Amino acid sequence: MDKLVIESEHIKIRKLKISDLSDFYFYRSNPEVTKYQGFDTYTIDQSKEFIESQLSVQFGKAGEWNQLGIENKQTGKLIGDCAIKLGEYDVRIAEVGITISHMEQNKGYGKESLVAILNFLFSIMDFHRVTEIVDVENVASIRLLESVGFVKEGHFIQNIFFNGKWGSEFQYAMLKNQWELITAMKS
Ligand SMILES: CC(C)(COP(=O)(O)OP(=O)(O)OC[C@H]1O[C@@H](n2cnc3c(N)ncnc32)[C@H](O)[C@@H]1OP(=O)(O)O)[C@@H](O)C(=O)NCCC(=O)NCCS
Repeated sequence: MDKLVIESEHIKIRKLKISDLSDFYFYRSNPEVTKYQGFDTYTIDQSKEFIESQLSVQFGKAGEWNQLGIENKQTGKLIGDCAIKLGEYDVRIAEVGITISHMEQNKGYGKESLVAILNFLFSIMDFHRVTEIVDVENVASIRLLESVGFVKEGHFIQNIFFNGKWGSEFQYAMLKNQWELITAMKS
């Protein structure tokens, strides 16, 4: 799928572009934004390399992370990015992650992005299951997942050496039939 675009009321999720570089670097260089993520802050060169590495990635390959930009439809500015990884052994399963710029957090963009991604994966692509793994101290991300209806399935204790110490993580998941129930109850 070359021209992947997922749209909702305020945001457009689409491929990253070289013209996103300054917006991308602005938040990816902030330690508060990367604090609980599996990557460190980015330099401008690393940001450019990262965007370039994503230009040829196509959605649909088993085991591959797709990093997509989250654009504010009104301003055209990049306000964050999201990652969708298709299962290595079954492409009806995906893992997701969302990053919203520190200047745009707590305005509903994370939730709107996650809902749009779930609608796309379950309703359009017919996925079966979506998971997210989150640091147990990442209160904002846990709140986001629970507010959308994800179920906490697992608690991995000191399973990851991270920022100089052992960290623990929760695994959250959503199944297609759960998502259909949640959306039916809201409509
Ligand atoms: C996690 C993240 C994506 C949330 O995005 P956001 O746009 O700020 O979230 P929203 O404004 O859509 O809020 C979603 C819910 O989380 C709550 N929330 C957001 N930030 C919060 C915080 N710091 N503390 C507690 N709750 C918070 C909101 O109140 C809202 O709850 P509600 O639906 O019950 O009202 C964002 O904080 C972020 O990018 N963090 C850094 C990157 C990161 O760690 N990503 C996760 C990797 S696993």
